[in-house]
Amino acid sequence: MLLHLSMSLLVESFKSSTTCRFLQEGKNAKRFKKLYADKEDILVPDVFWDYTSAKVLTIDWVDGVKLNEQEAIERQGLNVLDLVNTGIQCSLRQLLEYGYFHADPHPGNLLATPEGKLAFLDFGMMSETPEEARYAIIGHVVHLVNRDYEAMAQDYYALDFLSRDVDVSPIVPALRNFFDDALDYTVSELNFKTIVDGLGNVLYQYPFNVPAYYALILRSLTVLEGLALYADPNFKVLAASYPYFAKRLLTDPNPYLRDALIELLFKDGKFRWNRLENLLVQGRKDRDFSAKEALQPALKVLLSPDGEVLRNLVIKEAVRVSEAFTLGTISDTYQYVPVFLRTLVLNGIAKEPLLTSETERQSMIELRDQVIRIWRLLQSSNDFDPSILLPILQVVQQPEARKLGGRVVGGITQRLAARFLLQVLGAPTTAST
Ligand SMILES: Nc1ncnc2c1ncn2[C@@H]1O[C@H](COP(=O)(O)OP(=O)(O)O)[C@@H](O)[C@H]1O
Ligand SMILES: [Mg+2]
Repeated sequence: MLLHLSMSLLVESFKSSTTCRFLQEGKNAKRFKKLYADKEDILVPDVFWDYTSAKVLTIDWVDGVKLNEQEAIERQGLNVLDLVNTGIQCSLRQLLEYGYFHADPHPGNLLATPEGKLAFLDFGMMSETPEEARYAIIGHVVHLVNRDYEAMAQDYYALDFLSRDVDVSPIVPALRNFFDDALDYTVSELNFKTIVDGLGNVLYQYPFNVPAYYALILRSLTVLEGLALYADPNFKVLAASYPYFAKRLLTDPNPYLRDALIELLFKDGKFRWNRLENLLVQGRKDRDFSAKEALQPALKVLLSPDGEVLRNLVIKEAVRVSEAFTLGTISDTYQYVPVFLRTLVLNGIAKEPLLTSETERQSMIELRDQVIRIWRLLQSSNDFDPSILLPILQVVQQPEARKLGGRVVGGITQRLAARFLLQVLGAPTTAST
């Protein structure tokens, strides 16, 4: 029963109970406010403890309109989808950052205030996501969007769906089958519900044991998606939330996410520039993205004692990129070089012909252009500082790097790569190559 005492307080009372439900709800509201109301677009009412007991809960009155009253919201000059987006961003922080979440975010419990804030009410049903699961969920979504089915299958251990002694390899073709064949969309164009149903269909055939809190997570996301779809039938929750996932993967120092990032970028020993570009394009859209923090966790590994495999991969890639820049640039005019001269021209650079085919020439140009695009993405982010990439230079300058230089004889080696990096990163010119 609600007793509306004044416009500034809301008192909820409840007579015959022997439980402390309202005290607990007040504590939940306080904890929720402390964690999530630091953003100016979120409002959580304060609890008046002097007027709160096991039988009465007294909280600030929130002047606002329920989120499903679209017309009333728009009459105030507000946009429902902006509020839904605020709700999604806040839910992502709840589920995946602090792990403490509102498990009942239906429109009756969400109000739009006249200033355009999103107010959360009703802290009677709260739940927690364990820490390991938070990281595993982030990894899983990124793997899903990148269609990395091997990694997705491995995620089920960390998600605590499967015990480590179950072999996940048969799941890989099942996932591939569903996401590659059955669906002709990019994953972020799909509804959350379609993805969850799809995964459910694939996964029910295996001995999965899904922990209980996932039901509440799914419920809370499905409710939000329902709200969004009500405002815009084409709204895509995954597309709206992917920048957050990309940002977390690029910047979070948690070892699980750091390793997931390295795996994703260096899949099968080859650097995936497409994936890096996509992560940056998406991650930059998150309002808390920091270019200064991007890739830092992975770059730290590069200089650590355990980073040897990664160092070797980075050296090879640095050489490949330097080649792409040099040869990509030469080869812009390459097509005008008469055929009989081509071998001659290119043998001037390397003892073996470097651009053996048109396909190779194309892929060099593509690589060069892609690296330029990625560099611009970083550069145009407000807090980018090129010196954060210096660990790459340090690695390429190591004496051991010479052995790994690729086309060594008379060709473009790690030394050129180092010089190239020095220039790009604006490092002190005294550093030797
Ligand atoms: N602080 C508040 N300010 C304004 N309205 C409120 C507030 N708290 C609750 N309400 C209104 O009362 C309704 C029921 O309160 P709620 O806490 O959600 O109780 P219940 O557990 O019955 O769902 C809400 O949907 C909302 O419309
Ligand atoms: Mg309620």
